Amino acid sequence: MKYNFDKLTSRKNTGALKWDAMEEVFGREDLIPLWIADMDFRVAEEIKEAVKNRADHEFYGYSEINDSFYESVIKRAKEKLGWEIKKEWIVVTPGVIPALNTAIRSMTHPGDNIIIQEPVYHLFFPTIRNSGCHIISNPLKLINGKYEMDLEQLESLFESKMGHNPYYKPIKALLLCNPHNPTGRMWNKEELTEVGKIAIKHDLKIIIDEIHSELIYSGEKHCSFGSISKDFEQNSIVCFSGTKTFNLAGLHVAVAIIANDKLRKEFKSTMEGIVPEPSIFALTALEAAFNKGDDWLKQVLEYLEDNLNLLYEYGERFKGINVIKAQGTFLIWLDCRELNMNHTDLSNFFINTARVGLEDGILFGKGGEGFMRINIAIPRSLLEKGLKRIETALNTL
Ligand SMILES: Cc1ncc(COP(=O)(O)O)c(C=O)c1O
Repeated sequence: MKYNFDKLTSRKNTGALKWDAMEEVFGREDLIPLWIADMDFRVAEEIKEAVKNRADHEFYGYSEINDSFYESVIKRAKEKLGWEIKKEWIVVTPGVIPALNTAIRSMTHPGDNIIIQEPVYHLFFPTIRNSGCHIISNPLKLINGKYEMDLEQLESLFESKMGHNPYYKPIKALLLCNPHNPTGRMWNKEELTEVGKIAIKHDLKIIIDEIHSELIYSGEKHCSFGSISKDFEQNSIVCFSGTKTFNLAGLHVAVAIIANDKLRKEFKSTMEGIVPEPSIFALTALEAAFNKGDDWLKQVLEYLEDNLNLLYEYGERFKGINVIKAQGTFLIWLDCRELNMNHTDLSNFFINTARVGLEDGILFGKGGEGFMRINIAIPRSLLEKGLKRIETALNTL
């Protein structure tokens, strides 16, 4: 089936956070919403049919995760992550964020340390802090427009200072994001291997968020952390879903792939009584997406790539804004530092002069100030309207 992603469908007053919370978030409603990470594209017909069929059954009791669901995840992991996983490794959660929270709580005590690579997806911060842990920063480096991991600084975090451990409590894990939100960078096998070796050397677990792993641009290939080696498989918790890929974020479902028996046991016991199973509709939708959504996905990826190219074209003309080249995700990172505005003025410029709702870079932690994140998963005419508004606003400066 050929989808028409150009079609504008109003999502206002449907309880869509992206459209209905603009007044609350930005203080005005007349913005083009280019912020939170969902797509303004209808779902695949096959997913809609599967959810409708399930709804028609008229019994919405507690869910059991069927073998067919596990098989769809195993097949997807093999095809898309290049990773042969076993059914018993899969723990289903109502989202990647619940999975990350559970992972951290399952392997730490209050006061322990977790490393992150900033700027990074903003919900990583409360995920760590609310688990009672401290954040240690291993900021990314921006070199000639490309983000790199700083592995030297990572190693230095473990160097003893004045003859004793640099931290009072242990560093338990490194929380990674690949593809990386908000920079659009995809960590390759070599980079992940280096970081994975450092983790093993210092007895750190890798918790990795691979939710964007199927949203990648032509010529790119995702390398799933667990697929690299048996040692890495045993030393990690890989969180994966199809909710970003297939635009199902409001349904809430993800999987934590945990090959290590001890880690999995602790993860499951941490979940008990707190983290519910995802709803029957979420399970139904994700299984349909993985089994039947590829035709839709192919078209979405082509559409997104054209949107990305449109953004790059505008980027050439934007005075003072550099678009960071993305390898994956529909969330693109804009370097606005040449505008020389302080944080309040920059935010005010986008909201009140350009009238577009972008995500404020400061949310993403260190290295986020002076940046903005734009969501390009929107019908092209609206994206173009937003980009024109930015261009016009820049020309008034
Ligand atoms: C990197 C990343 N992880 C996790 C999430 C949220 O995942 P979930 O809705 O499954 O909790 C997002 C949403 O934008 C994201 O970008």
